[in-house]
Amino acid sequence: MVKVWYMDKDQDDQRSEHHRNPPQYFSIKELYEKTGVEYFCINVEKYEDDQLLSTIRRNRNYTFEDEITCSKTCLPDFELKLKTFYTEHLHTDEEIRLVLDGSGYFDVRDATDDWIRIAVEKGDLIIIPAGIYHRFTLDLNNYIRAKRYFVGEPIWQPFNRPADGMECRQKYLRKQAEGF
Ligand code: LAC
Ligand code: NI
Repeated sequence: MVKVWYMDKDQDDQRSEHHRNPPQYFSIKELYEKTGVEYFCINVEKYEDDQLLSTIRRNRNYTFEDEITCSKTCLPDFELKLKTFYTEHLHTDEEIRLVLDGSGYFDVRDATDDWIRIAVEKGDLIIIPAGIYHRFTLDLNNYIRAKRYFVGEPIWQPFNRPADGMECRQKYLRKQAEGF
């Protein structure tokens, strides 16, 4: 099950949780209100039959799907890819990931530029809006396998910060100001 919290400002180890003790988690509702990030819990043992997943895919027109495994042995250019994933960036489209196995962290910026860390594991479906600054890292388990979805032909290109002039960024900021 997903966990969400504000990262410690002095966190130096990207793959460790390293949060306050006791950790101050907050809800996915609050995550959505702050950032527009959406979360759903999917039965991955039978995800092809999962009604919620089918409904989401149909309603949001996710026509493309593939699978990605991030581990030292399965991902070509592992270290370089991880570095790219952890470099703060945005996309022109939603980033949609369903974790089939393993775990990792998505970090997203809130309206005041603080990092929110989202720990995902098996069964977590996360939808990161277009135009939000974010990054991804594996945790100490060094392994995640995930489905990726997309509307139409996928565009995976990251635009590293600063990308404030981009239309998708401006649109995101307007939505955030109005309230998600
Ligand atoms: C991506 C994630 C890692 O852009 O943010 O693929
Ligand atoms: Ni991304």
